[in-house]
Formats: sequence, structure tokens, C-alpha cells
Amino acid sequence: MSIAPFKLEQYFERYEFSVPHLLSSSDAQAWRLDDLLALADEELRTAWNELTLGYTEVRGHPLLREAIASLYDEVTAEDVIVFAAAQEPIFALSSVAIEPGDHVIAVVPSYQSLYEVARSRGAEVSLVPLGEGWRLDVGAIRAELRPNTRMIVLNAPNSPTGSLPSEAELRELFALGPLVFADEVYRFLEHDPRDRIPAAADLGGVSLGVMSKAFGLAGLRIGWLATRDPRLRERIVAFKHYLTICSAGPSEILATIALRSRDAVLGRARGIVDANLAVLDDFFARRDDFGWVRPRAGTTGLVEIHRDVEIEDFARRLADEEGVMILPGTIFDWPGATFRIGYARTGMPEALARLERFTDQQ
Ligand SMILES: Cc1ncc(COP(=O)(O)O)c(C=O)c1O
Repeated sequence: MSIAPFKLEQYFERYEFSVPHLLSSSDAQAWRLDDLLALADEELRTAWNELTLGYTEVRGHPLLREAIASLYDEVTAEDVIVFAAAQEPIFALSSVAIEPGDHVIAVVPSYQSLYEVARSRGAEVSLVPLGEGWRLDVGAIRAELRPNTRMIVLNAPNSPTGSLPSEAELRELFALGPLVFADEVYRFLEHDPRDRIPAAADLGGVSLGVMSKAFGLAGLRIGWLATRDPRLRERIVAFKHYLTICSAGPSEILATIALRSRDAVLGRARGIVDANLAVLDDFFARRDDFGWVRPRAGTTGLVEIHRDVEIEDFARRLADEEGVMILPGTIFDWPGATFRIGYARTGMPEALARLERFTDQQ
């Protein structure tokens, strides 16, 4: 199997642990183990204390699958398969649902593996950009449909743009016919919770979820697929036997603790996001050399620099001179001088101040 390099992950590997101020991270501030354990109810405290470190169930711990199912309207624990974070299920689903010669439509900008794995399987992939103001352009997707279109892939809420389709747009997308695969790893961080749209799995598609982003628990490496299609589920499970087989037991218990306390866990992330958005509103009001479409959901936005800069060079010098990491839009194959900004980390105001100082010295 040959697959193109994963530009975003390569970039993070280079900078994430060598640059002190991260201004482009998409995961919420990570929890301390002690703080998370303090949220455990008696059942899960006992499960944690008495845990043995053997193999676990292939589809995931029953209590975890139940907690995950409670995030949906129609999905039951049986419809959930637990994985090692989000990349493994993307790989598994793309491997079993896509055949060489199939056609896949993916909405961009988004996370490269959502279409790259399908491409490496021999599928033809049509990339459809988000429209004006980062709106989901269902008309443009419809125009790409072919008799062999097997899957439509989107990331909603979206990274890098922080955009979110309306429920009506989502339902229009489902009405097109092909299987809809929605990467919903930023779900539950809608900036106005009334904007939350139905999950794909509740509408007959496949949902991808993870503990890494809104829940601030990337280190657990726990994610899942939810689908109410039993045949597809069995094929995915059969493929998982060739991957991790099962998840890490400690991570499963910790993820269940977080999901049972999700109001507190998500409330903490929302508090950081709200405080940082206020700082960013002030920044964009003061600076006409930077602009963005204010995100509606998630942890990131795509910022445009209205200056004559070459963005990869700007990012490299910003890292060298101010110790600040930004993720150039070119990593998403997005043209122009843009970068992703992440606003779910507590260190964002300092990183932003450093970016501002650096810009003013240019
Ligand atoms: C949209 C999207 N999907 C999936 C992932 C992968 O998540 P994880 O690192 O938890 O596997 C990311 C991580 O950046 C992402 O932004």
C-alpha cells in the first residue's frame, strides 16, 4: 500500500514538542489524571482500583459503549465500536467500505486521512471546498455525484475553519444518497449549544467520535465509530482484528469516567474557549492585517493575514524567533496566507501576544 505523507501530522511531529507556545492545537487543554479520577462515581472508582491489565473486549468495554451511546439519540451500545482514537477507525472504515474504482467525495479543508486512505485504496476522490463564509456547498457536492459514488465524507464541526453546517444542509446531504461519514470529533463544542446538529449515525450514516478534542483527553487514545448498519459493523470489527484488536483497559475506564461527567468535562473546555474567543474578538477588532470568519463550533479557526507574506516562511520564523507554533493553511492545501489558530488551550493569550509582537516587527 502506498499513501501520501500526512502533512499535518508531519508538521506537528516537527514542532509540537520542541516549540513552547502552541497556537494551532485542536485539542482542549488536557486533564490531569488526578482531577479526572476525582470525578469518578463509586462504580468506576472500584473498576479503576480493581482493574487488571489484560486484554479487553474487541468492541470496547460495555460500560464505555453505553456511555458513548448516551451521546446520541438513536444509537445503542451495540452500534458502537471503540478504537484507539480517531485515526484507527478512519483507516478501518475506509478499508472496508471503499473498493478500488469507487468514487468518494470529501469536503475540504479537513483532516487529510479522511480522504487519503480512500485514495490509497484506489478510490477516485473529488475534493469539494467549503463555500463562501465556510458554508457547506451541497450544490457543489451534488454536481460531483457519479453512479459509483460510494461515500461522502465531511468533518463537522470543521477543523481548521470552525464552521458547522445547518441541520437543513446536513439533511440535504443525506438526501443525495451515498453513505455519509461524518468526523464529529469537535462535536459538543458548539459555541452556542443550540447550534448542535444531529449526529450522522442518528440519521443513518457513520459517526466518528473521540475523547481527544472536546473532552481534552488525547492521551487516552480512545475513539469510536457509531453506525446502525449491522453488516457494516461486523466488517469493521473483522478488520479491527488486524489492527489494535482492543483498547487499553485503563483508558477505557478513564474515558467512561469523563463521559459520565460530561457536563463538567465539557464545561471546563467551553470555559477556556469562551475566554479565548473574547481575547480573539478584541484582537481581530484591533488588527485589520488579520481576518477570519468567526468560528461557530470546535476549537480552531482559519486566520487570513492581509500582508504580503509567504506563510510557511512566516511560520518558520515565528517558531524560531518567538517560540510560537502556527499551522500554515498550505498544510491543508489551502491557498494564500492563512493559518489555523487553536483556542482551546489556556496558553493561547500569551502565544497570541507573541504573534502580535512578531508581526509588528516585520
Ligand atoms: C478532524 C480530525 N479528525 C481526526 C483527528 C485525529 O484525532 P486523534 O489524534 O485523536 O486520533 C484529528 C486530529 O487532529 C482531527 O482534527
